Amino acid sequence: MNILLVYATNSGSTAAAAQLIADVLTAKGHIVSVKDAKIATPEEVTAAPFFILGSPSWDHDGLEGQPLPEMEEFITRCKDVQLNGKPCTVFGLGDSSYTYFCGAVTYLEAFIKRTGGTLTFPSLKVDGFYMKPEAGENVTKWANELAEKIK
Ligand SMILES: Cc1cc2nc3c(=O)[nH]c(=O)nc-3n(C[C@H](O)[C@H](O)[C@H](O)COP(=O)(O)O)c2cc1C
Repeated sequence: MNILLVYATNSGSTAAAAQLIADVLTAKGHIVSVKDAKIATPEEVTAAPFFILGSPSWDHDGLEGQPLPEMEEFITRCKDVQLNGKPCTVFGLGDSSYTYFCGAVTYLEAFIKRTGGTLTFPSLKVDGFYMKPEAGENVTKWANELAEKIK
C-alpha cells in the first residue's frame, strides 16, 4: 500500500522512529513517503491511501502534552482536508516522567477524527526512545503489526 508518514521532531528521535517505521513497512512491501511536517502539504495528505502522523509531546505556554509547534502549523494548514474515511494511525514520542505522557497523541487522534479519517490501528506511545532499549523494539513491533494489518 502507498503510505504517507508525516512527523515533527525537535531533537531527532521522532525522525528516527519515523524512519524505523518506514523501513519496516518497506521491507514488508509497502511504499512509504516520509515527510517532515514543515514541508508536507494538504494535497499529499488527500492523495495518500494510508496516512500516519507522528509527533513528540512538548510544552508551550506552561502547558504540557502538546505537539510541537510545527505539527500544530501542519494541522492548521490541513484544516480543510476531508479524509473521507481514509485509514490512518498515529504515533507519539514522549517521556513518562511528564504528567501528560505522550499527550500529543490525543491531539493528533482528534485531528484525524475531526477531518473524517478512520483510526484503523491503535496509536503507539513511545517512552524514552534514546534512553530505553525496549523503545526501539516497541516501534519495530508496532510497525510489523501495522504492516500485517494493512497488507
Ligand atoms: C521542553 C520539553 C517538554 C516536553 N514535554 C513532554 C510532555 O508533556 N509529555 C511527554 O510525554 N514528553 C515530553 N517531553 C519529552 C519529549 O517528547 C521526548 O524527549 C521526545 O522523544 C522528543 O522527541 P524529538 O527528539 O523528536 O524532538 C518533553 C521534552 C522537552 C525537552
